[in-house]
Amino acid sequence: MKSVEIKPGIYWVGYVDWNIRNFHGYQTHRGTTYNAYLIVDEKIALIDSVKAGYGKNLLSLVSEIIDPAKIDYIISNHTEPDHSSELLKVAQAAPDAQVIATAKGAAGLKKYFKADWDIKEVKTGDSISLGKRSLQFISTPMLHWPDSMFTYVPEEKLLFSMDAFGQHLATSKRFNDEVDEKIIMEEARTYYANIIMHLGSIVKKTLKAAEGLEIDMIAPSHGVIFRNNLDKIISKYIDWSSFKPKPVMLVIYDTMWQSTEMMATAITDGAIEAGIEVKKLSVQSNDITTLATEILEAGAVAVGSPTLNNGLLPTVAEFLTYIKGLRPGNKLGFAFGSHGWAGGAVPQIEEVLRELGTDLTVEGITCQYRPNDEELAKCKAAGKELAEKLMAKITAE
Ligand code: FEO
Repeated sequence: MKSVEIKPGIYWVGYVDWNIRNFHGYQTHRGTTYNAYLIVDEKIALIDSVKAGYGKNLLSLVSEIIDPAKIDYIISNHTEPDHSSELLKVAQAAPDAQVIATAKGAAGLKKYFKADWDIKEVKTGDSISLGKRSLQFISTPMLHWPDSMFTYVPEEKLLFSMDAFGQHLATSKRFNDEVDEKIIMEEARTYYANIIMHLGSIVKKTLKAAEGLEIDMIAPSHGVIFRNNLDKIISKYIDWSSFKPKPVMLVIYDTMWQSTEMMATAITDGAIEAGIEVKKLSVQSNDITTLATEILEAGAVAVGSPTLNNGLLPTVAEFLTYIKGLRPGNKLGFAFGSHGWAGGAVPQIEEVLRELGTDLTVEGITCQYRPNDEELAKCKAAGKELAEKLMAKITAE
């Protein structure tokens, strides 16, 4: 890949990681990019670096434009290694450059790289002039780490939004209007669900803080740059951060000897009868990345596990642990599962769902060994009841 001029004198100098499929547990089905940007003005600024191993590539893209030694500022918007691993290498190639980060960012970089690194600390409201343009810094703690910040260029109406609005999407194209919008929104949704979902209230606060900014381009740190139709991705972030429920019900489960699966099928049939869209998702056939993405917008979730050794099947336990961290909110739900001689799984599922604030509006269902016709009818009725309650909730909102 070559560098790409995204605005006059402003360049993408990042790296396209086509083949990464596991990003700290997130299944990146379409790879990703690590976006770094170069602003050439009277002073020259580099925004972020790239993941370990790709610094040489970044420096070679910068060299197509200017001598890296001429960089005056290196802005570190976020300390996570996918953006900062090669910062030291870049700083060595630009020995006169001043590194800039938030106080927490500076502390993180010193811990990762060298304790005596001279880093200029900035906070919201601080800015520096590059000549014709300026860089304004907006601290965005917990989006995605405590150190994170946005960098805004008012003269260009350009927001470097770090992880926010990102997508794990490898593509040879750099702009949103050059790639199928359906794919971009799909990956933006997956990214939001798996990286940002648990930060909903912070996202709302940050969107509010950014409300006053004039923006005609959002350049995130992963995926494509938004240069038109910005309202669409922003309004999606507003909906996602509010957990606005869609009329979709999920039945997520695993099974040992098909009894819990029979229950899942009956629950699904009941929901279908109620006229709602329902998705029956086995945790064996769907990775946790996909399940978290489905949960983001679904209004109701029934979760099922057979009991193994008085507890959950490990696959369901893994799913619940992941979801517990991501904290999807504003759901209706219930738990179900089969057992042999003693139960255990259903109350454990309910405990997690309660912790997530899920409204367990339908009573959980257990059955011993194989569900009989009466028990399957109960499952079907529960599926129907949950679907109807979701539709009533959406109508009332
Ligand atoms: Fe893309 Fe939180 O790093």
